[in-house]
Amino acid sequence: MNNRHPSLTQRPAFKQLQTHFQNIRSTHLRDLFAADPKRGDRLTLDVLGIYLDYSKNRVSDETLKLLFELARECDLPSKIAAMFRGDRINITEDRSVLHTALRSKPDATILVDGGNVVPEVHAVLAKMTNLCDRIRSGQWRGHTGQPIRSIVNIGIGGSDLGPVMAYEALKVYSDRELTFRFVSNIDGSDFAEAVRDLNPAETLFIISSKTFTTLETITNAQTASDWLLAGLGGSKEAVAKHFVAVSTNAVRVSEFGIDTANMFEFWDWVGGRYSMDSAIGLSTMLAVGPTGFQQMLDGFHQMDEHFRLAPLEENLPVLMGLISMWYVNFFDVQTIAILPYEQYLKRFPAYLQQLTMESNGKTTTLDGQKVDYRTSPVYWGEPGTNGQHSFYQLIHQGTALIPCDFLAFVETAHPLGRHHDILLANAIAQSEALAFGKSETEVQSDGTAAWLVPHRVFDGNRPSNTLLAQRLDAVTLGKLIALYEHIVFVQGALWNIDSFDQWGVELGKVLAQKIVGELESPDDLALKHDSSTNALIRRYRQLK
Ligand code: F6P
Repeated sequence: MNNRHPSLTQRPAFKQLQTHFQNIRSTHLRDLFAADPKRGDRLTLDVLGIYLDYSKNRVSDETLKLLFELARECDLPSKIAAMFRGDRINITEDRSVLHTALRSKPDATILVDGGNVVPEVHAVLAKMTNLCDRIRSGQWRGHTGQPIRSIVNIGIGGSDLGPVMAYEALKVYSDRELTFRFVSNIDGSDFAEAVRDLNPAETLFIISSKTFTTLETITNAQTASDWLLAGLGGSKEAVAKHFVAVSTNAVRVSEFGIDTANMFEFWDWVGGRYSMDSAIGLSTMLAVGPTGFQQMLDGFHQMDEHFRLAPLEENLPVLMGLISMWYVNFFDVQTIAILPYEQYLKRFPAYLQQLTMESNGKTTTLDGQKVDYRTSPVYWGEPGTNGQHSFYQLIHQGTALIPCDFLAFVETAHPLGRHHDILLANAIAQSEALAFGKSETEVQSDGTAAWLVPHRVFDGNRPSNTLLAQRLDAVTLGKLIALYEHIVFVQGALWNIDSFDQWGVELGKVLAQKIVGELESPDDLALKHDSSTNALIRRYRQLK
């Protein structure tokens, strides 16, 4: 690329932030709160029913002003417009990035190569709806005439994590007469455990793969076909009644033996990790029904419109994206914890790991230069309160600074006794404890023995966001996912990287293909890897 941008670190606002950081790095959240009694009300945003409290972040008004300035210097507004317009912003794959078109209204016009993609999106949604209605009503019959009772999604990465996460998140709204399973790993145990109690005559497999070439998925799909045919007496016609595919690759789907009439299409302008609201969400639609799926799409769309139109200062994804990069690029933060206080979001952190790290785990700028600043931190997490009895010790008293996103909901699907109040009390207490800690004087005044005091001091000054919404339902889930999609976009825009490719996963795939041949070869091959790899291959061959 010829138009080289100035490095992020050379931007005037970045330099000002560096100077500003020296002033604020040792300022305690206790002092920031003491200086502004209204801070906890003021540093909040209420967007589409999602309330963000960002007051417990190590930021001042000056920090925020400079971060927004930096965003403008990095052309964030025009980059946002370019994505929504369908510009080919995924430059290394020469593709538009239009997951936002998946949740567009039917009367919208979004052009790719001169053609409006919106009618195609809605045609696929209609086809998905038709299949769902037939399955959920029992009209679709399997090879032996029985209705479908079990749905198995086979896919990996973006063709698995979104569907699993959404199924878990919306389970309470799902059709409990249907059983859902998800197979992703090439480890045969994943498939074996998923189908061990299923009846092939009542099982539908959804083979979800954007490329339809992914080794894990194609191997699992073949095993599923063998399992089905073994269970139903080996008749090949059975495949048509028990397999559907979700892919961009009709040729490969047809080669596999799935009728393309039972293929649900999506497009190369939808990245794998941005595809859960495309036909990749077929299992979600089967679980919650077309209306529930549409509600989720509406949630996505509302957040898209907010991201597209709201001024930077009032823009939830922009604000959260900028705060996260403030920690990464100034405080040298290396991980961010996602802590949902909602059991149904138990797979949300795993979903976000791919979204964030496959998108922004990059070292090369859009101009082909090595970055001279950090990019994506590691995202990880577990639902509260389980994490509290596991790794929170390190977040409270360890040496690493780990900003946290707490996610909580006012209502629960299961208002059992005091459970929900206790759950929410814990979420709120954690952010308070992290921010304010417990000083030496406070510990001493508890009557703690002098030698124990240092162990019981909490330094505090550990930052967090709290996101509070009314309840976890389909529309809120859509808003939350779109929020994080756009946070990732904001980070990538500032880091000047391609957030939409994933070349880093290729090398391992190629080497595995080679090594599998070496593991399975009947001949003693002359191995040409390094000595460690050669020894591992030989040992496995000897012992297997
Ligand atoms: O290995 C990375 C990846 O390409 C992801 O980006 C993608 O979500 C996953 O593999 C699955 O790919 P596919 O849907 O083409 O099988």
